[in-house]
Amino acid sequence: MFRSSASTFLSDRRQFVLGAGSLALLPWFGQCLKGAAKTNASFSKDPFTLGVASGDPLPDGFVLWTRLAPEPIEGGGMPAEIFEVTWELSEDESFNTIAKSGKTFATPQLGHSVHVEVHGLPADKWYFYRFQCGDAISPVGRARTTPAFNAAAEELRFAFASCQHWEYGYFTALGHMANEDLDLVLHLGDYIYEYAPNAKRVRQHNSPEIQTLDDYRNRYALYRTDPNLQAAHAKCPWLVVWDDHEFDNNCAGDISEEKGVDPADFLLRRANAYQAYYEMMPLRRRCMPTGPDMQLYRRIPYGQLANFQMLDTRQYRTDQPNGDGLKPYNEAEADRFATLLGDKQENWLKRDLIASHSNWNILGQQVMMAHVDRMEGEGEKYSMDQWPGYSHSRNRLLEFIRDRKVPNPVVLTGDIHKNWVNDLKVDFQNEKEAPMGTEFVATSITSGGNGGQMSDAEKVIQSENPFVKFFNGERGYVSCTVTPKEWRSDYQVVEFVDKPDAPLVTRASFIVESGQPGAHRT
Ligand SMILES: [Fe+2]
Repeated sequence: MFRSSASTFLSDRRQFVLGAGSLALLPWFGQCLKGAAKTNASFSKDPFTLGVASGDPLPDGFVLWTRLAPEPIEGGGMPAEIFEVTWELSEDESFNTIAKSGKTFATPQLGHSVHVEVHGLPADKWYFYRFQCGDAISPVGRARTTPAFNAAAEELRFAFASCQHWEYGYFTALGHMANEDLDLVLHLGDYIYEYAPNAKRVRQHNSPEIQTLDDYRNRYALYRTDPNLQAAHAKCPWLVVWDDHEFDNNCAGDISEEKGVDPADFLLRRANAYQAYYEMMPLRRRCMPTGPDMQLYRRIPYGQLANFQMLDTRQYRTDQPNGDGLKPYNEAEADRFATLLGDKQENWLKRDLIASHSNWNILGQQVMMAHVDRMEGEGEKYSMDQWPGYSHSRNRLLEFIRDRKVPNPVVLTGDIHKNWVNDLKVDFQNEKEAPMGTEFVATSITSGGNGGQMSDAEKVIQSENPFVKFFNGERGYVSCTVTPKEWRSDYQVVEFVDKPDAPLVTRASFIVESGQPGAHRT
């Protein structure tokens, strides 16, 4: 029986090898080759150079991640063999009280990455974890289970961030994030940038613009060698979603921003990008890509207190209906067939929002939702790559949330390299319309280089857009403290990124009271 199913697999496999379609079968294949896995490897160089991470927690477990890479930015440096990796979960940092342990395999097909899905743990509990491969032991990370689905959790502390361009500076803000007492971190995209190096910047990328699987792997590895990024990953579970630069700037579905790119070539590149993303992130097996497709949108509840819907506004969107850039409003934006989410994801989101009994309903996504006019004085200009470029699709979603009385909607956004707080409305032009939710936009970790407070620009933007409560151009992230009664967002900034060790400053704080849409500065 075994021989027969194995030979079926091998003949079927020939049909898959041209793409990444066989990825979903590879861990099973690794199980079949258990006897062939190396169990007693001896390393002359540390294979755990990329640190450890955890992610996507549930009430009974989470994902544990690492990747074996003694030569991280030169293809990893592992031989093309399967390696057995042991993992341990402990109630104490010294690993005296082991709660669970197990073995898994690091395969060359997945860049010797390791994704362990731990189950069967008690809810709402912290653990320490580590890996061992042969004679090498990994750094220690922390992970937690979420409160039970029906538990009335009293408090959640999390941070969200995006846009960490290696060349623009140091990930100091992530080091500060690692020192906060957080239950979760959301990364909303632009985890890497795909560009060629620029010699004038603070530190340089490691190759020309990335295209191949090896290119993407080496680029992720370069970023993940940053000690502040590793520290933030090790501190608590992360919920990750991509934006465009994990693949290609301002991509829309299978359409490149550059003219004349064959969609087939573009999708081949996307398969490389998505595989490298999966390999490097603490994601569940159900997110494993099939060729150029990877379902990243998903739901992570935190007891009855919060429901995180992590959205993908890149993979399923139609092409920008009015082109890219900043443009005045026209009828193309109101195209009812233009979509940022795609029908399947939008329907999934709506079904989940209706069913949600959570106190706070959080959309973790990429591009700014508020209809912000970016042109000073007479005339109007809106960003066509963001929700205003797909305004019919946005209004349909916001109307749904308002009309179905979804409790306390909060939208979290990255992408734009500025801090914003926006009241959300169905009709942004109507000053008299009451807000129906809040959008908190986090600036970049480094992208754009040293920022500034931009208080003059803030006044101009607020005079054009009365629903904007805050605008700021410094670098950093947002820390949120959520209770059944109140949401608090602290805008955490660093005053420079071109040198290490910038101190952390809380630039502004905003409160939303449960049941009373609209953010107030404290
Ligand atoms: Fe960005």
